[in-house]
Amino acid sequence: MLRAMKRTFVLVSALLLTSLLPSSLAAGVAEVKKKGVLVLGTDPTFQPFEFKGTDGTIQGFDIDIAKAVAADLGVKLQIQAVGFGALMPQAVTSGRVDMAMSGITITPERAKVVSFSAPYYRSAQVFIVRAGNPGKFGWPADVKGKTIGVQANTTGQFAAEDSLKPKGATIKVYDDFAAGLADVRAGRIAALIGDAPTVSDLSRRLPGQFAQAGQALVAEDYGAVFKKGSDLAAAADKTLARLKASGEYQKLLDKWIVQK
Ligand code: ARG
Repeated sequence: MLRAMKRTFVLVSALLLTSLLPSSLAAGVAEVKKKGVLVLGTDPTFQPFEFKGTDGTIQGFDIDIAKAVAADLGVKLQIQAVGFGALMPQAVTSGRVDMAMSGITITPERAKVVSFSAPYYRSAQVFIVRAGNPGKFGWPADVKGKTIGVQANTTGQFAAEDSLKPKGATIKVYDDFAAGLADVRAGRIAALIGDAPTVSDLSRRLPGQFAQAGQALVAEDYGAVFKKGSDLAAAADKTLARLKASGEYQKLLDKWIVQK
């Protein structure tokens, strides 16, 4: 409870601080149309939602959706790579970006300071272990005395602090998800928490190295993120509805996401 209050405090202070800044950068449909660009903030270390391809371009499921939102608004999409810690919510509340898509989980706490689109992807936080699960890691079996890795500022970290720490687990926080994976591979941590679709993708790209263990910790939904109250959220909802109705959404799922 205390932890949740602290997180809310951090989020709300971010909002208060940025509300003191000039509001000329306020991101709404009219402003975006006037600029002719929609600036998307994303942390491209999250394949298949956003990642750098071999040619260096940022691509993925979220990027294709953001491109469709920009196209429906009649503007160009400009992509800014922002680390997840800075993206949520500061890059949005400060107006540095008009929109954030980065496999971002909709949570009531985040919704106090930013506006979310309708949910567009059902996900879950799951445990990643070394292939074969040599440490016999299990959840919800006892996690007492185990060290579990999480990525900073993610819902995986929040869930671990709320549900695993009270059960005696040690939580190790990584800024870089890849560093956590390296520690799983080396057996330095019992498990790393990650988003289910990125773990399936990992198993496809690096077969025989990692596996999912135990049940999912928590189910969640992804949303696109905007400045609080921005009418861009409704614009994104319209695009999402159009993509779903036309079958394009399903095509994007088939193109990018490993279906289990
Ligand atoms: N879904 C999780 C969250 O919202 C993790 C997202 C991490 N995304 C990224 N691009 N690294 O906290």
